[in-house]
Amino acid sequence: MMALRFITFEGGEGGGKSTQVQLLRSRLENLGHEVVLTREPGGSLRGEKIREFILSGQGKPYGPFAEAILFSAARIDHLRETIIPALERGAFVICDRFADSTRAYQGALGEIEPDIIQSLERAAIGDYRPGLTIILDIPPEIGLARANTRRKQAGGVVDRFEGENMEFHQKLRQAFLDIAAQEPGRCSVIASDREPGIVADDIWQTVLARLDPNECRAHENGREIPQDG
Ligand code: TYD
Repeated sequence: MMALRFITFEGGEGGGKSTQVQLLRSRLENLGHEVVLTREPGGSLRGEKIREFILSGQGKPYGPFAEAILFSAARIDHLRETIIPALERGAFVICDRFADSTRAYQGALGEIEPDIIQSLERAAIGDYRPGLTIILDIPPEIGLARANTRRKQAGGVVDRFEGENMEFHQKLRQAFLDIAAQEPGRCSVIASDREPGIVADDIWQTVLARLDPNECRAHENGREIPQDG
């Protein structure tokens, strides 16, 4: 089963995901929908604990495969506690990163065979594939510079993956583009090296085109919102 109302955002560092997920949330809410905005790693109590562990760098010594397992463990809890209940009551779920991040990030770190990552994904998410995945694409030099500026303003430290070298970030970008090419029905690549309002308009057009626009407006017309599978 593919969950139509399940929308994920993916991409490298500094692509503007956090701004765009908020803007999409407002637009869906303006049509009268309940929207659950969540993120990975994290999104549930236990998921957030694993997030802290990984992003502080404590997972790194275990190696890329163990890190992939940690992300997956967080994802299992997140699905069970947050995502599935929201989808079952008919809400839209917008998730800032999901399983494609494991494919791309842990894949780009190397050393893990793609079919192992695939099996891990199947085991962790089962049938809960997103109905739409927005990949925000930005050249890594620009994205990392943006992430740097944002971090300095917030007084934070470089996190686990921002600290990887430029070659890694190039690989990462290509990995996301490859995912989009393999699954064009689910994924849409949007250039995010542009003014946020313009990027948001593009995203909205994609949401209207890919998810049934009538369904998106169901509330406006005073009809029941159908549940998908
Ligand atoms: P976060 O601060 O949320 O970064 P961003 O704003 O870029 O989304 O940190 C999440 C980091 O974890 C990010 O560098 C991507 C990485 N990540 C993985 O490596 N694998 C995964 O499966 C997920 C969900 C995230």
